[in-house]
Amino acid sequence: MKSSILFPLISILSTIVNADTTLGSSGKIQFSGVGYDFSYQPISKINNGNKNCYCELSDNEEWVSGTNTPFNEYLAVHVRGPTKLSKFAYYISSNFTIGNSSTSTSWNRSAFFDNTEDFPTMENITFLGHQGDDSSCLGKALTYIGQDGRTPQKTNTAPGKYMQDVSNVEYIIYSNVSCPKSSVNGGCGVYRSGIPAFYGFGGVTKMFLFEFSMPTDSSNDTGISYFNAPNIWLGSDSQPRVLSQPGFQSNCSCIFQGCGEFQVFSANATKMNSSMLTLQGLNGNTSLDIQSMYTNMDGYGSFDRPINTTVTGGVVFDSSGNVVSFLSSDIAFDEQLTSSSVNAILADIPELGTTKQLKAGIQTAPTTTSSSNSALPLSSKVNNWMYIFTIATTLLHNIMW
Ligand SMILES: *[C@@H]1O[C@H](CO)[C@@H](O)[C@H](O)[C@H]1NC(C)=O
Ligand SMILES: *[C@@H]1O[C@H](CO)[C@@H](O)[C@H](O)[C@H]1NC(C)=O
Ligand SMILES: *[C@@H]1O[C@H](CO)[C@@H](O)[C@H](O)[C@H]1NC(C)=O
Ligand SMILES: *[C@@H]1O[C@H](CO)[C@@H](O)[C@H](O)[C@H]1NC(C)=O
Ligand SMILES: *[C@@H]1O[C@H](CO)[C@@H](O)[C@H](O)[C@H]1NC(C)=O
Ligand SMILES: *[C@@H]1O[C@H](CO)[C@@H](O)[C@H](O)[C@H]1NC(C)=O
Ligand SMILES: *[C@@H]1O[C@H](CO)[C@@H](O)[C@H](O)[C@H]1NC(C)=O
Ligand SMILES: *[C@@H]1O[C@H](CO)[C@@H](O)[C@H](O)[C@H]1NC(C)=O
Ligand SMILES: *[C@@H]1O[C@H](CO)[C@@H](O)[C@H](O)[C@H]1NC(C)=O
Ligand SMILES: *[C@@H]1O[C@H](CO)[C@@H](O)[C@H](O)[C@H]1NC(C)=O
Ligand SMILES: *[C@@H]1O[C@H](CO)[C@@H](O)[C@H](O)[C@H]1NC(C)=O
Repeated sequence: MKSSILFPLISILSTIVNADTTLGSSGKIQFSGVGYDFSYQPISKINNGNKNCYCELSDNEEWVSGTNTPFNEYLAVHVRGPTKLSKFAYYISSNFTIGNSSTSTSWNRSAFFDNTEDFPTMENITFLGHQGDDSSCLGKALTYIGQDGRTPQKTNTAPGKYMQDVSNVEYIIYSNVSCPKSSVNGGCGVYRSGIPAFYGFGGVTKMFLFEFSMPTDSSNDTGISYFNAPNIWLGSDSQPRVLSQPGFQSNCSCIFQGCGEFQVFSANATKMNSSMLTLQGLNGNTSLDIQSMYTNMDGYGSFDRPINTTVTGGVVFDSSGNVVSFLSSDIAFDEQLTSSSVNAILADIPELGTTKQLKAGIQTAPTTTSSSNSALPLSSKVNNWMYIFTIATTLLHNIMW
């Protein structure tokens, strides 16, 4: 008797409690079929002159292929205010598939930032920002930045606890592994001279976790770019080493050749989207490609922006081309996490929309290396450039840097 009366009461109460406490704190957005083959021409020289500022490309095409391409490359983590980042971690696994717990591999934490104590913890972390020398085609160069996220510094400094209530201040998180010297065949490619240069975070199967809030910008500075539009996103680690904005010198920007970007938490005043910028599935038909590009972009569903609360969440790139961004209060920033615990947490999180399945790629990397790299027919190359330039101008208005 009692229980039958209590049950509906409890369920009503718990619904109310849930609606309050889980506001913006649980949900996931999923993509599948991520990864394709594509080729690009790496930058061979940066001509950073005042009057004549441009990048030269190498004649040698390089192919990238496999699961999660282009996100299997080294990624840098961008954080734009108003965001208060209290924790960040990067994990790697040798074999993890969402929804499949048949492997017993662990997730190992390989970088960690914790800003919740008196002294910040920084393991394998470097904070940089575009606050250095200005250039007409490349924008400002990378430098170390201070606690406010924008004053140039001589050494690696953690952002202050309460920084970034301000819109449009952006810093970039790298590992602490230094790049070899700038060279087309070097591990970090060709980059701008005089910058602190570090690797981003590598691996096919990787996970990034964040503890953060995105308070409303209370200034009335609505005229500035990206006013009250905070964002946490991942992009090729090479791009920021070359330029700060895509500009019109498209050859300086790998994004127009396919290096990609994943916006984990891209917010407007109330909500956050996850979206994937990739040229996967594009075939050189410009009008179709622009459409495909946009359909690739936004995952289905959106999170509540954590305006007045601190949330935990992140993104998993698994070993089977699935990518999931999520918010969950159950995930901990432990040194090691088991496959099964991560899978259990992910399984418990409600999916906010249906999974976005990406179209397959249309090229196939040559099976033998280097010598067959010129295999791509010229017409296709010309098309490539044509659509890249068209997309470039369209993108400039939409992309969140
Ligand atoms: C970009 O690079 C291509 C290939 O090297 C070259 O043909 C083109 O002129 C370059 N464009 C610019 C704007 O520098
Ligand atoms: C994670 O660490 C364990 C040892 O603690 C090691 O056996 C395993 O290979 C590591 N995994 C990766 C992907 O590095
Ligand atoms: C899990 O992975 C194993 C090994 O790759 C495979 O045999 C099995 O079918 C998968 N299970 C599910 C539920 O996908
Ligand atoms: C991942 O684990 C599954 C199940 O144990 C195994 O079948 C598969 O070969 C593994 N894949 C890799 C890349 O190690
Ligand atoms: C990079 O970070 C790791 C982990 O905290 C640390 O062991 C290592 O000494 C650091 N390396 C450099 C060059 O600072
Ligand atoms: C630091 O991150 C880099 C970048 O991916 C990784 O290769 C390296 O193993 C990490 N270092 C440590 C000490 O975990
Ligand atoms: C913004 O404008 C409102 C209304 O005019 C004012 O009350 C508030 O103090 C202003 N905020 C700041 C930070 O200047
Ligand atoms: C913010 O994003 C949400 C979710 O995508 C959307 O429904 C809403 O219209 C957006 N708000 C504004 C002001 O653009
Ligand atoms: C999310 O994507 C939708 C559809 O593209 C867009 O209308 C909305 O403004 C986006 N919301 C945010 C928070 O960026
Ligand atoms: C590109 O796609 C459109 C729409 O399907 C089609 O009408 C057009 O013929 C295509 N162009 C080329 C060059 O294939
Ligand atoms: C956040 O807190 C402010 C100040 O207390 C309040 O005005 C606002 O309505 C809150 N916003 C949300 C989304 O809870």
